[in-house]
Amino acid sequence: MAIPRDFINELIARTDIVELIDRKVPLKKAGKNYSACCPFHSEKSPSFTVSRDKQFYHCFGCGAHGNAIDFVMEYDRLDFVDAIEDLAGQLGLEVPREQGTGKRQDDGLSRDLYQLMEEASRFFQTQLRQHQDKQKVIDYLAYRGLSDDIVEHFGIGFAPDGWDGLLSRYRQNQDAQDKLLTAGMLISNDSGKRYDRFRDRLMFPIRDRRGRVIGFGGRVLGDGTPKYLNSPETPIFHKGNELYGLYELKQRHRDPDKVLIVEGYMDVVALAQYGVDYAVASLGTSTTAEQFQLLLRSAKEVICCYDGDRAGNEAAWRALETALPLLKPGDKVRFMFLPQSEDPDSMVRKIGKDPFEQLMESAITLPEFLFDTLATKFGTDKGNLAKQAFGLIEKIQDTVLQNLLLENLAHKLGMNSSDDMKKKLGFTVKQPKPTASTGLKGRGTPLRLAIALLVQHPELGVGLSPQPALNHLQMPGIDLLPLLLALTREHRLNSAQLLEQFRDSPHSGTLHKLAQWDHQVAEENQLEKFKQTLVWLNNQYIEQRYQELSLKQTHTKEEKIQLQKLISVMKGLN
Ligand code: UTP
Ligand code: MN
Repeated sequence: MAIPRDFINELIARTDIVELIDRKVPLKKAGKNYSACCPFHSEKSPSFTVSRDKQFYHCFGCGAHGNAIDFVMEYDRLDFVDAIEDLAGQLGLEVPREQGTGKRQDDGLSRDLYQLMEEASRFFQTQLRQHQDKQKVIDYLAYRGLSDDIVEHFGIGFAPDGWDGLLSRYRQNQDAQDKLLTAGMLISNDSGKRYDRFRDRLMFPIRDRRGRVIGFGGRVLGDGTPKYLNSPETPIFHKGNELYGLYELKQRHRDPDKVLIVEGYMDVVALAQYGVDYAVASLGTSTTAEQFQLLLRSAKEVICCYDGDRAGNEAAWRALETALPLLKPGDKVRFMFLPQSEDPDSMVRKIGKDPFEQLMESAITLPEFLFDTLATKFGTDKGNLAKQAFGLIEKIQDTVLQNLLLENLAHKLGMNSSDDMKKKLGFTVKQPKPTASTGLKGRGTPLRLAIALLVQHPELGVGLSPQPALNHLQMPGIDLLPLLLALTREHRLNSAQLLEQFRDSPHSGTLHKLAQWDHQVAEENQLEKFKQTLVWLNNQYIEQRYQELSLKQTHTKEEKIQLQKLISVMKGLN
């Protein structure tokens, strides 16, 4: 399912990286470029720059660097194809696929995992309407108070009882069965016999951010264990990176103000039915750092909702510990606790949307939750309280936020300032490590300079005559230059497009470094300097070839002529 190069180039050409990034990370104009605090690491002063000319971004602090595709991949945590889809979607373009390895060859054999999961989901939904046991499921849905609309919106279905409800549809298709096994929909017993994983359960399809079904959560209809059976980890389903309901949320709100994290599938669905259609759930585990980061980027505010019991409190504390290192100034994370023995599902049914949202309003901030919890735990033991708080605040990578919380702590302990507190209690806070500089200053050989100039200003190569000598020159790292020359000679590419051609190439790392190298050649001198480097490299070849030939005892006729030529050229050079 290769995506044509031309299309990728067009995508980069039609996307303005400044606009793209500005929508997510507000940029300020700074001279020729635009800048902001880097979204990929914590910092106080902006070292993240975006160049409209080059169509790429670069952070002098952490070295993050790339074009529009890289930005979407990094920022939205998407893989390459998804990033392309995302950018194309923003431009209203359809992604073309090259012939040959079509994604959906419907010959009944080469279905891929996504397609099989989609088929499974459709099958479960159909069973809800057609299966002979459907009445008990309809009764259960009514008992849980789920409307037809919401069942439809979340694609909820029914996996019938029996060993081969799903399997029997693929009796003649070994390949599809193998893939269903990989996708976690079938189980193979010790003797190799295969059977359905999900039997007699209400099925919640779990979708990725593009809406593709990647896994399921299946609930028993009534009492029984396990209450929920989930898809195992598979090549397309990684629990820690996904959130139940995120796709459905994004369908309703492209840029949500807030997201509510709850614990269960049923909670997400019930909340949505009552109009709180911005809830997501982690998948049967505590919320991971990846999930938090995804949410902090998806919405201005993240509210974590927990049951009012001890388990809820412990889960909230784990979430706090996970969130701390990720926080930056301006990130809003709050915690809300429901009354004893209520969960969001029961609560919203009991009180309705508005009162539920009022409850959300009273959610406490992360620092409040931190201090309150420690205060409850340590009471008047200020020393231990401070020690614990310190240990936690230390986890915050962002120094601004860290200092803010330390001041806050000092104030709560009745001290003048955090310095005062540190002195009195004898604490030191680890200073964050200085971020490594990625500069390459001082190592500018003519070859590096030639490549850097060409990558940063590909127009230098347009129409340039071929440089055959460079194909024969022996010099570490030389092989990249002819490739770049060939590309820039014939196509008008910008830097971002040029880098894109090397995404999967072993040269990619070098190119990215040189693309951000400060070559310090003024704009008006660039063409001349570039040509000088080419002359120098050609001369290197002449010398090399002369050495080579002059060491030989005997020469062919051609070699003799070449040697004569080389000698006269070299006379001219010296
Ligand atoms: P809950 O037990 O709170 O489920 O588990 P719930 O969503 O409120 O479901 P109902 O209302 O009883 O139907 C919360 C989440 O923990 C995971 C599931 O993701 C569930 O949604 N879980 C729970 C499991 O994975 N397995 C279980 O056996 C139970
Ligand atoms: Mn529940």
